[in-house]
Amino acid sequence: MINIDGELKKYGKSHKVPISLDDTLDFLIKTINNSNSKQILEIGTAIGYSAITIAENTDCANIDSLEIDSERYNLAKENVAKHNLTEKITLYNLDALEYIKNTDKIYDFIYLDGPKGQYINYLPYLIKILKIGGIIFADNLYFHGMVTGKIPVSKGCRAMIKGLHKYIDEINSNPSLDTKIYDIGDGIGVSKRIK
Ligand SMILES: C[S@@+](CC[C@H](N)C(=O)[O-])C[C@H]1O[C@@H](n2cnc3c(N)ncnc32)[C@H](O)[C@@H]1O
Repeated sequence: MINIDGELKKYGKSHKVPISLDDTLDFLIKTINNSNSKQILEIGTAIGYSAITIAENTDCANIDSLEIDSERYNLAKENVAKHNLTEKITLYNLDALEYIKNTDKIYDFIYLDGPKGQYINYLPYLIKILKIGGIIFADNLYFHGMVTGKIPVSKGCRAMIKGLHKYIDEINSNPSLDTKIYDIGDGIGVSKRIK
């Protein structure tokens, strides 16, 4: 059983801030621990719930986490400080694309939980900043069943769902990646960089 902050989870739910599901977090922690990943990048901090959960349940050395929304970024900063994790978690208030295009850091593990329609556009940059043997863990690949056809795609979600289909096709066919898609939470893609 992983250690989670019930208060943060409650805040996320009551303020309609999207946060990772329990079984997603459980699988995320197991995947980080089994791969012995130390340098972690998270795309989509929200209020810091998943970054704090990773920091408190793994032996990772550092988590860089990116959030475009200033209000959420500020809340995440407060939450990280409350948990005494400022040494381990570095927060950035920016558009993730700007960071991944320009950073020269190399990561062991990327938790992709930002704008779903952008996953496909992020992928070439993510592969570049991932070490060989490293993992991209992408959440919400089913998007509540709209990707799998379980529920109809609502009008406002069409472009995003199209983007998610493209992302799934690409991770399944890209020769640099070895991918498995798991029927856990809202659908999770685990892609290992093999070359
Ligand atoms: C699903 S939430 C992240 C939840 C978080 N990982 C957790 O479980 O606690 C996705 C977040 O990505 C942020 N986001 C959306 N577009 C972004 C972008 N272009 N760059 C960085 N963050 C972005 C949203 O503001 C939102 O807070």
